[in-house]
Amino acid sequence: MITTLTLPRLFDAHVHFRNDEMLQLVVPFTAKYASHAIVMPNTRPRAILTAEDVVWYNSEIERTLDQLRPRPNFKPLMTIEIRDNTTPEIVARAHKVGAVAGKVYPLGVTTNSNEGLRNFFSKESLETFEAMQFLGMPLLIHGELDLPRTLVTKREEVFLPTFLRLADRFPKLKMVLEHITTKAAVATIRHLGPNINATITAHHLCTTLNDVVGDGIRPHNMCMPIPKDFEDRDALISAVISGNPKFFLGSDTAPHPREKKECARGACGVFSAPILPELLAEIFEKANGLSYLEEFACDFGAEFYGLKPATEKITLIKEAWTVPEIYGNVVPFMAGEALQWKLL
Ligand code: DOR
Ligand code: ZN
Repeated sequence: MITTLTLPRLFDAHVHFRNDEMLQLVVPFTAKYASHAIVMPNTRPRAILTAEDVVWYNSEIERTLDQLRPRPNFKPLMTIEIRDNTTPEIVARAHKVGAVAGKVYPLGVTTNSNEGLRNFFSKESLETFEAMQFLGMPLLIHGELDLPRTLVTKREEVFLPTFLRLADRFPKLKMVLEHITTKAAVATIRHLGPNINATITAHHLCTTLNDVVGDGIRPHNMCMPIPKDFEDRDALISAVISGNPKFFLGSDTAPHPREKKECARGACGVFSAPILPELLAEIFEKANGLSYLEEFACDFGAEFYGLKPATEKITLIKEAWTVPEIYGNVVPFMAGEALQWKLL
């Protein structure tokens, strides 16, 4: 039986760090075990939309890291949000100051998407995507649409035709369909070219809709895209233990204060950062796929962003522990439950 697991520091291709006190609370978790993380731009009150925003937000994160002893060997990689009024100039300037990607939130599909993109195929959007293709700057997409008479469980599937149309129109644009949750999305990504990739979260590898609403409402498992059916989860597991570089880790760790989750209209987002390496080890081991974990969580994401996997290692040991009920005012994923692996 394997009882020790040594991995390079992880490459987490999708995190929400927020700002102010929440930023200070959550950054240390990811910085403990990741070499890099792609930092999402849907912050409030200041969203990350321009080069100035990128410089400001990056310095906020770096300042938090500077306060940690020892300072972790972790580098945040910044993004901007692509909206209807984003221009090629905005994109080029942000790229120049270090934004590694642009993120699209279609209007109204998730946390802080109230000013999300309305039209993927307007003249302005097409010019922006063209500029990103030219710069080699990846387009990251929250792949859901909030259409009339469409259940929340169907929002990812109804987005796929839009995604295919974009892939067809911009054959060299690097794209990532973020946090995929359906068998249909896995199949779509598999069939497209090497510039088209997807991130997969740890929580979508181990939950279904039943874990959100099947046995009481469990607000801390609620996220967008909402967890789906068993065969969807099986397809995600198959994707991550197939050694296919198109699928890599993006945890979508998305902290919200407890009172924003446990209320009449709870926020969407799963705070997985405090348990991410441990949870991944457990999931991959259960799927008889431990040998695929390193590629999925360390190598493929780094390669996609043109980086080498980390040389510094982390170590996990087989030792059961119970996930704390709360960190600060944020309830982590699997609070109060046991995990079998422990990060040293
Ligand atoms: O559940 C989610 N929470 N999904 C997202 O896409 C955004 C995230 C957040 O920012 O809280
Ligand atoms: Zn996200």
